[in-house]
Amino acid sequence: MINQREQWGSKRGFVLAAAGSAVGLGNIWKFPYLVGENGGAAFILLYLVCVILVGLPVVIAEILIGRTTQRNPVGSFRELSQGNPFWMAVGGLGVLTGFLILSYYNVIAGWCLGYVVESFKGSFQQIENPALAGELFSSLSSKPHWTLLFHGLFMMITITVIYAGITKGIERASKIMMPALLVLILILVIRGVTLKGSAAGVGYLLKVDFSVITGKTFFLALGQAFFSLSLGMGALLTYGSYMSKKESIPGSALQIVILDTVIALLAGFMIFPAVFAMGMHPAQGPSLIFNILPVVFNSIPAGYFFRIVFFLLLTVAALTSTISLLEVITTFVVDEFRLPRKMAAIFLGIVVFVIGLPSALSFCGWQNVRLFGLTCFDFVDFISANIFLPLGGIFIALFVGWFWGAEKASSHLLEGAVNLTPFLVSAWSILIRFIAPVLILLIFLSSIGIL
Ligand code: PFF
Repeated sequence: MINQREQWGSKRGFVLAAAGSAVGLGNIWKFPYLVGENGGAAFILLYLVCVILVGLPVVIAEILIGRTTQRNPVGSFRELSQGNPFWMAVGGLGVLTGFLILSYYNVIAGWCLGYVVESFKGSFQQIENPALAGELFSSLSSKPHWTLLFHGLFMMITITVIYAGITKGIERASKIMMPALLVLILILVIRGVTLKGSAAGVGYLLKVDFSVITGKTFFLALGQAFFSLSLGMGALLTYGSYMSKKESIPGSALQIVILDTVIALLAGFMIFPAVFAMGMHPAQGPSLIFNILPVVFNSIPAGYFFRIVFFLLLTVAALTSTISLLEVITTFVVDEFRLPRKMAAIFLGIVVFVIGLPSALSFCGWQNVRLFGLTCFDFVDFISANIFLPLGGIFIALFVGWFWGAEKASSHLLEGAVNLTPFLVSAWSILIRFIAPVLILLIFLSSIGIL
């Protein structure tokens, strides 16, 4: 007897879980520092263009593949391509990418959890400038037991949610964590924009200066849109495989994309007004939130409380993303090898923890272990986020647009989407066949240094 596949309890549950996958460290850590380094409002504008032209059509395509086949990435491509090994390998690449991203993403997520604990302990109280905050960060991350403890703890929390299943685990957790995340970020935005001197930061986010846009800005914006929307590795495909055919895919996709974008923008409004109010420079790079914000909180009233809120926000955002990454590989193993979900979740969580060890140790002991000149952490990040994700994205767009065929795909898209007009279907089909693959190919070539 074949087991009935579990389904999301409601459309809201699906949208919150998928938005949870999308909203993560990419929105709160990476988006603000890219904005700060690449010209503020101009970067934001380009980002929005990329989200609409590439992000939204590919989100729809991924969910559509999953919902049509009700299978994991490899099983989905097998079914729709009648067992064509090339397309099955594309699904396999997605699962592998999930493995790799989770292995290092979980290390950063562990730091965020560790920072919550440090904030409670008051470790940042005496830190007066970003250089000292940087030293604290290096001293914490260079202790193997600190990094490995939180890497392990974070993985255990993620396993617990996957172990509990789709509705009782992921859906229930997302329904609690996503509204909590929104409240936490709103508290911090209100705190930021009401600081004395914050107006310059708000202006920085609103006044577009086209002269700062270069080819590189465009590619960075597109790459960020991809990572932020969890595209190119079958995360949304997997979540879509638990979706009912009575729900509208374009409607859900639009809500997911809007939530992801709004939270990235709010992260900007949380950080830059505070950075400007403290007279600091916006172009700090990746250390922006780890080294600047703990200091910013020291110079504002109730900073102790707001610092805890901030690191909790990062932790919750990271958790809803690690859940989706572990779910991709768990669904694959459950579907393909018929392993019980609970056993698969524990087994895979442990395997990913072990695969993540070299990335975790890249900061504490293995700094000199290099692959192609990069630390293990940077290497895994580079091949998975810069190479495998865009590659997966191009193949997903080409598969839906050309191999499966936009026309056939559209007939499945119409299921549950009663309000979808022929104009919108044609617009999606043009974007998925032409615009998305060409633009993604451009980012891909630029990220490997060919363009
Ligand atoms: N979208 C997540 C973020 O912005 O942090 C990262 C991510 C999660 C990428 C899940 C890919 C994925 F499948």
